[in-house]
Amino acid sequence: MTDKQIHELLASMSLEEKLGEMTQMAPNFFGTEDSVDLTGPMKAMNLRPEDVSCLGSTLNAFGAEKLIQMQKEHMARQPHHIPLMFMADVIHGLKTVYPIPLAMACSFDTGLMEEAAAMAARESAVTGVHLTFSPMADLVRDPRWGRVMESPGEDPLLGARMTQATVKGYQGEEMSAPDRIASCFKHFGGYGGSEAGRDYNTVDISDGTLREFYLTAYKAAVDAGAAMAMTSFNTIDRIPATGNKKMFRKILREEWGFDGVAITDFGAVHEMIAHGYAADGTEAAKYALEAGADIEMMSTHYLNEGRKLVQQGKIDISLIDEAVLRILQLKNKLGLFENPFKGADPEKEKQVHLCKEHLEIARRAAARSIVLLKNEGGLLPLDKSQKIGLAGPFANSADVLGGWAFAESAEQATLYSGLKQHGVQITAMAMAEPLRPMQQGFMDVSDQTAELERLADCDIVIAGVGEHPDDTGESASKTVLRLSHNQEKMLERLHDMGKKVIAVIFSGRPMEIRPVLPFCDAVVQAWFLGIEAGNGIADVLCGDVNPSGRLAMSIPQTVGQVPVYYNHMNTGRPLIGEPHRYVSCYLDCPNEPLFPFGYGLSYSDYRYTDLCIDKTVGAEDGTLLNVSVDVENTSDIAGRETVQLYIHDVAASVVRPVKELKDFVQIDLQPHQRRTVCFQVTRAMLSFWNNEARVFEPGDFEIMVGHSSDELLCERVTIS
Ligand code: BGC
Repeated sequence: MTDKQIHELLASMSLEEKLGEMTQMAPNFFGTEDSVDLTGPMKAMNLRPEDVSCLGSTLNAFGAEKLIQMQKEHMARQPHHIPLMFMADVIHGLKTVYPIPLAMACSFDTGLMEEAAAMAARESAVTGVHLTFSPMADLVRDPRWGRVMESPGEDPLLGARMTQATVKGYQGEEMSAPDRIASCFKHFGGYGGSEAGRDYNTVDISDGTLREFYLTAYKAAVDAGAAMAMTSFNTIDRIPATGNKKMFRKILREEWGFDGVAITDFGAVHEMIAHGYAADGTEAAKYALEAGADIEMMSTHYLNEGRKLVQQGKIDISLIDEAVLRILQLKNKLGLFENPFKGADPEKEKQVHLCKEHLEIARRAAARSIVLLKNEGGLLPLDKSQKIGLAGPFANSADVLGGWAFAESAEQATLYSGLKQHGVQITAMAMAEPLRPMQQGFMDVSDQTAELERLADCDIVIAGVGEHPDDTGESASKTVLRLSHNQEKMLERLHDMGKKVIAVIFSGRPMEIRPVLPFCDAVVQAWFLGIEAGNGIADVLCGDVNPSGRLAMSIPQTVGQVPVYYNHMNTGRPLIGEPHRYVSCYLDCPNEPLFPFGYGLSYSDYRYTDLCIDKTVGAEDGTLLNVSVDVENTSDIAGRETVQLYIHDVAASVVRPVKELKDFVQIDLQPHQRRTVCFQVTRAMLSFWNNEARVFEPGDFEIMVGHSSDELLCERVTIS
């Protein structure tokens, strides 16, 4: 349609039709059997059949045949035959589920992220989905919050790059292409800052922290052209995000120029009443409309109160018109007016879903997302000639997909099946009963360690440990992040039995593994890696893939340290040397996390030398410094190294973090190969939010390059 035709269509729509367009309801309202109480409680919605005929979109319905049918029936009823938009939570793949977003971020591989998202787009498009509620660009610092699994971690730069790659992967050049979908970034904003890591809780962050840390990845999504933004459940500056004009009108639209659609989160308009912000549904609808929320998801205050608000002059019709215009424009960009079924194709669906090429991508992504945390005495890669046993609840569990995998299939590779495929002989298995979710009352108290006698003959035991996937994700906050009782006991006992222990941790969050670390010779952080989990893990354990993942989120020593993150500010009493009184430290624990952001081992060793900084540039692109460093693979094994550049502004008009990641690059190095890696430090990289504007202040800076946030070469320079 031309823009003129879109405007004509808008002008011919009734107010009820417009309000329907601005309302999103679950598929069961359209007469299908699907239910979406997956993500929120269903409330009485007070909908009449004529309202349903005017609805503009639905969520989490899948299947080409079904969606084609739904579309046909809906368009026949809709007064102007406007097609529905099918939206869904395709968070880390549809059928070919790949690693959870936190794990993908650990790959530090934006190309891989884009490739995986493009695969998710192909599988979604062919099933009839037009838009995914992804990426989640929420910066996180608190592993008690279950949703860290959906995030790109604690760093704004890594978060921004991963977010951008994901949006590009979904939307491609043209989101109307049959194999592409639109992307909705979420949850705007600052949802990851929920107090005490309790989901849906208050967020209270300073403007500076918001601008420099929390907003960066959302902005990257806007810059990448994401079609939609979703509000968050939390308050920000004591105003619920869904009714927050500063966030949506000022920052998102005015400052960043976002011209896409804004949708609320599930029931979030209604929730403004419980927040104590809106007195009733009428006020809730008014605040959300004023803030610029174009679509109300899963509550019906726009439909029920919108007419009254307009008639009483409490809402200007232009607010409704601008929202509907944006929605129609998005439908048009997706090509739905020409082809309301878009890529939906029942025959192709069978060929595309879980095809060989997709499984290969998922396997590669799984192997690249793994972070090797410990490898004492070079226990890994595995010596297959040893007697190897398997233990723990993830030894042969298929619960490896992670949350948001509700379109799952039963074909996931387990740790056992992956090892077997690699020709590893498993001598015995013990304590392998899978975990059950905590919400089902799972306590793990009766001691089962006697079973470990079965492993008496083994030299090496691979222990699959962790948390149940249902204990991560939305509404899965926890206060204790340790492994369950039997898992900790098991690792200790295996160690006492004289076994070499390799712990493979399946989790959606950094867990508190300090108590078991001494019992493990090797520790592999596997997260939830998707359908190819077992194969990807076995690729790493057996040495077919040299691990290259790095932590996107610090692993705390203990939950009492949380939030603990690498890019914190200094204090006036920093701890230098051993802990002592009257400096900023704990009496019972180091300040540093157990494993920091950027950390991850490899089967290779790398040496960094010759950090050089050239100040003579001052080019037009704003480059202030050319930085180079030599990286050498000193081992006999080829490997992939992520070279990280950090800076520290020594003194400024507002205090600056002790270090901030400003760039990173991945290089492949053959055995004993040495390469020079170059970075450009620009003015933009050194600028910051001074509580009023972004500024650059000349002065002294520390430039740091290295393997991890805690292993860096450092040079100090003065920039005038
Ligand atoms: C979640 C969103 C999700 C939505 C729709 C909500 O509960 O917070 O992330 O996209 O449900 O399923």
